[in-house]
Amino acid sequence: METIYVKMREEEIDRDQIRRAGEILRGGGLVAFPTETVYGLGGDAFNPASSRKIYAAKGRPSDNPLIVHICRLEDLSRVAREIPPEAYRLAESFWPGPLTIILPKCPELPDETTGGLQTVAVRFPSNRIALALIEAGGGFIAAPSANRSGRPSPTLAQYCREDLDGRVDMIIDGGQVGLGLESTIVDLTQPTPVILRPGFVTREKLLEVLEDVNAGASFETAAEGEAPRAPGMKYRHYAPKGTLTVVEGRTEDVAAYINTRVQSCRTDGIRTGVICTEETKALYRADLVKSAGAREDEEGIARELFRILREFDDEGAGQIYAESFARSGVGCAVMNRLLKAAGHRVVTV
Ligand code: TXA
Ligand code: MG
Repeated sequence: METIYVKMREEEIDRDQIRRAGEILRGGGLVAFPTETVYGLGGDAFNPASSRKIYAAKGRPSDNPLIVHICRLEDLSRVAREIPPEAYRLAESFWPGPLTIILPKCPELPDETTGGLQTVAVRFPSNRIALALIEAGGGFIAAPSANRSGRPSPTLAQYCREDLDGRVDMIIDGGQVGLGLESTIVDLTQPTPVILRPGFVTREKLLEVLEDVNAGASFETAAEGEAPRAPGMKYRHYAPKGTLTVVEGRTEDVAAYINTRVQSCRTDGIRTGVICTEETKALYRADLVKSAGAREDEEGIARELFRILREFDDEGAGQIYAESFARSGVGCAVMNRLLKAAGHRVVTV
């Protein structure tokens, strides 16, 4: 399959190309597109063949459900049923935006799209290219992140191309995404809402709208043999090719530990990488030292994390060490992704 590439800016949407992309989606094809969080790989949510194609293109297990993207609040009731008032309160506060809500699904929505679950994940994104595409494609676009399964979610169109060239019909390049981590997922089918995946809409913000919300297992993988609530949580995620270790402790101790490890890797001929901050980057002796930004700028760190993980792959880092970040606010989402990428390998010094 020859993949078509088009480029546009959110401020200047190319209506002809969006129409063309919409036709591809309505015809059962796949289009990768920017959202405010990460790039998505879209297909018609009501077409089971499209959902099957999404799993095949990503190399994703077909029991891992897709998020249905809508572009009008009134369309929520076309995919979800028994919608509680909390859902509308969340929608009013956070939609369009980086929040995904889990609700019971409508029977018309194919099981392929929800990975066989009787619930559906719904998101109303704010990126204007995404909204134009959803509308052009018929209003209901199933879209996981546009990466090959197991790789970091793409924050640039070039990463969609690396992962999906020749496997999808079109890639829309809308530049670097604004946020860089996937949406917050809240499950409203539980007696008390649960955060299945932390993101920019933090627990603190959700508590302004909901009476209560459980944090979920943000920093752990599901225990052996236990079915994870968000099926995606059981798969190895965002994993770089090299071995990633998160190192916690006082700044000087962390730097000393990492530099010792770097030295021994060098003896063994292994290329090393470090994920750190502007404040600490001068402390490290690794082959590749990458700052994710200023330590207080959690949103900046969130935006850079997946790009850095991919760069380490491109540059052949065999051992990667990361500083640890505060587990509050958006830092909660950053640490959730970092720990997943590290397969929960943490050293405390
Ligand atoms: O920001 C985002 O959410 C991006 C952009 C493209 O919108 N999408 C995204 O999709 O991250 P994906 O497929 O990579 O992650 C969706 C997660 C998976 O872990 C999946 O298991 C979970 O949501 N999920 C989807 N439907 C679910 C459901 N009905 N119940 C529980 N978890 C669900
Ligand atoms: Mg994903």
